[in-house]
Amino acid sequence: MGGAAVEMRSVSKRFGSVEALADANLSARPGEVHALLGENGAGKTTLMRVLCGALRPDGGEVLVEDRRLRPGGPRAAVAAGIGMVHQHFTLVPSLTVAENVALGTREGSGLRLALERVHLRLAELERVTGLPVDPGATVAGLSVGAKQRVEILKALYRDPRVLVLDEPTTVLGPQEVDWLFGVLRSLVEEGRTVLLIGHKLDEILRVADRVTVLRRGRTVLAAGREAVDATGLARAMIGRETTRAAPPARVATGGRVARLEAAGVRGDDGRMAVRDVTLEVQRGEIVGIGGVEGNGQRELALVLSGRLRPSVGSADFPATVSLIPQDRSAGGLVPGFDLAENTALAFHDDDAHRRGPLIDWAAMRRTAREIVTGFDVRAPGWRATARSLSGGNQQKLLVGRELARAPDLLVAENPMRGLDIAAAAFLRDKLVELKVGGAGGGPAHAPPGIVLFSTDLDEVLDLADRVFVLVRGRLIAVPEKERTPAGMGRLMLGSEEA
Ligand SMILES: Nc1ncnc2c1ncn2[C@@H]1O[C@H](COP(=O)(O)OP(=O)(O)OP(=O)(O)O)[C@@H](O)[C@H]1O
Ligand SMILES: [Mg+2]
Repeated sequence: MGGAAVEMRSVSKRFGSVEALADANLSARPGEVHALLGENGAGKTTLMRVLCGALRPDGGEVLVEDRRLRPGGPRAAVAAGIGMVHQHFTLVPSLTVAENVALGTREGSGLRLALERVHLRLAELERVTGLPVDPGATVAGLSVGAKQRVEILKALYRDPRVLVLDEPTTVLGPQEVDWLFGVLRSLVEEGRTVLLIGHKLDEILRVADRVTVLRRGRTVLAAGREAVDATGLARAMIGRETTRAAPPARVATGGRVARLEAAGVRGDDGRMAVRDVTLEVQRGEIVGIGGVEGNGQRELALVLSGRLRPSVGSADFPATVSLIPQDRSAGGLVPGFDLAENTALAFHDDDAHRRGPLIDWAAMRRTAREIVTGFDVRAPGWRATARSLSGGNQQKLLVGRELARAPDLLVAENPMRGLDIAAAAFLRDKLVELKVGGAGGGPAHAPPGIVLFSTDLDEVLDLADRVFVLVRGRLIAVPEKERTPAGMGRLMLGSEEA
């Protein structure tokens, strides 16, 4: 039967010993937002890479608007009208927004005239879709949220019939998510098809018309929105019931671990990204900082973790500080390194991992193994590179490594990014366990102080003992009575108008 915009039948794909896709089926209609769900490593990205021709499947077939697509041909996929926003950034940092958008298009042949056309079309897109980007800005200086918007605009620029978005919302704030969903709805109203991957079920269910669930490379559920709910979907994804951990218990704090008094912190572009911030962090507490990316989060996190000095002011820090950066690829993991090598990035200075001047690789592999077991990192093998792990498993490796250092201070930016429901719940429990002093280090080890940055206000409210919002580089304490997403939203807006 015809009529499907995308039809994928019994697709299989192996990477060495890993069966990433075993029997994956997906049927998406014109005019629908189709959600693709599944645990970390279920095969979602792999299936979409098959669709956009980046990967050649071992078996199965792919039809776009009833025409068979040549497997493994990116050009054929583009010609068939398929566009993809990838899970990791594909932008060239040293180029401008407009240049990045133009790359790989007819206008991208390097002529000034063509770039002017790109500027015009971007302005047009901005008018239609409503979210501003500066076409002349260099990508390197953009926040993660802004980079994500550029990735989306870059895909829209190509005017796709079928648009695939692989976890586009993980770094977007609530308003940006609303913006994106508005854009997706208007695309499908024009009869296009959107394939959307994500882990936040409530969010996905707001916009999806139909869902497909993958479990270990197989399609286990395909249904209309009206036939599913979050609980049922979670069960289909995991294959059993999930349980939600008890809310964190408030504990007494164990003395100051860090103090920052920064009148100003400059960003890459030389402008003041953070102003007049005074913050003390105690052992045994979680300080939660909510807010939209690009309001000074990156700079404040770098200062708090001792990787950047305040331009004006002072900072007083403990010996071991762990940082979970917002952008995994910048200072987190090295994609071409294997598990032990990525572990070594954090442990090469550690006495227990050295033999004189040399790295003790046996010890390093032991630690890597502990991280992999502790955080359920699903890797294709011990020599696997970080690049070959699924997005969520890369995040588990990074988070596991930073926690394994038993830091005095942990600075985490969107640490749940890309984690599936079970992994996110595990990490929430782990952070609470850490702050009450129950994890690692043994009884003698004092609990760390934790600073949690998140675009997800519910997550901040759920975990933090003290709550702040960061708006235009200013840190605003959230009073007890405003500790709701709406209250925090008001504080964020209020200070924007000021
Ligand atoms: N290039 C590769 N080499 C080896 N194994 C790979 C490669 N790409 C993916 N895999 C493996 O295929 C499996 C499926 O990965 P995939 O990225 O499709 O998962 P996913 O559903 O997108 O997960 P996530 O939610 O974490 O992004 C994983 O076990 C992964 O390690
Ligand atoms: Mg993925």
